[in-house]
Amino acid sequence: MIKNKTPAQLEKMAAAGAIVAGCLKMLKEHCRAGVATIELDRLAERFIRERGGVPTFKGYRGYPAAICASPNSTVVHGIPGPYRLRDGDILSLDVGVTLAGWVGDAAITVEIGDAGKLARTLMDVTSESLNRAIARCRPGNRLGDVSSAIQDYVEANGFSVVRTLVGHGIGRKMHEAPQIPNFGTPGEGPELKEGMVLAIEPMVNAGTHRVSVGEDEWAVSTADGSLSAHFEHTVAVTAQGPWVLTMAAGEKQAGLEASSLLW
Ligand code: MF3
Ligand code: CO
Repeated sequence: MIKNKTPAQLEKMAAAGAIVAGCLKMLKEHCRAGVATIELDRLAERFIRERGGVPTFKGYRGYPAAICASPNSTVVHGIPGPYRLRDGDILSLDVGVTLAGWVGDAAITVEIGDAGKLARTLMDVTSESLNRAIARCRPGNRLGDVSSAIQDYVEANGFSVVRTLVGHGIGRKMHEAPQIPNFGTPGEGPELKEGMVLAIEPMVNAGTHRVSVGEDEWAVSTADGSLSAHFEHTVAVTAQGPWVLTMAAGEKQAGLEASSLLW
């Protein structure tokens, strides 16, 4: 069952989302060669708790850290550890925050030094696929319109979408109905209604869409060792259009104008 939120509840989710956005911004500033991913985890946990939030991921099904830090061919769910970032890496950072009982969830992929043209194109395509999906988050559209926006843009650019991991509804719990695949058919799936909140998260590989799970039973990596990028936002469907809840105050949905025009 999809639980739609009231405007007052969306405001609470936006407060959680602002901490997520601020945390990702802070982490991005700390991403440079020589920094260990466990250091990023400690910075994130402190940032979240100082603002009255709780790191949603920590303890979720036994997950041991506050954030996911997934370098290079790791798609998602990389457990922060002693790995030190190197010039030429890309790193996907995923942050979830619970504030006053409401959850925000977002992710970005960042470049360490110069990761090269392929890596930058992969990151740009993944981010733009998310923006296009967000632009479809309007009442009366269907979930397949959101999913297909991602798949069509990614595949037109020669990359592949991961099939076995999906985005999700979100609210009082991190994972609510519906599941949001990064592939689909326009016009299919549940109708989007005012108050629905979707965590949309394209996971895009430079090579095969196939993935495998690591020995720690968390880290998901590309089956062929190719690079992978991940961007995520928590988005509310409103009568006024998509409302990105995982934005810092003053960030003002920057970067979304272009794709909104296309839509
Ligand atoms: N954004 C991811 C998700 O929605 C983060 C979950 S990591 C976990 O599934 F450790 F909490 F599982
Ligand atoms: Co998520």
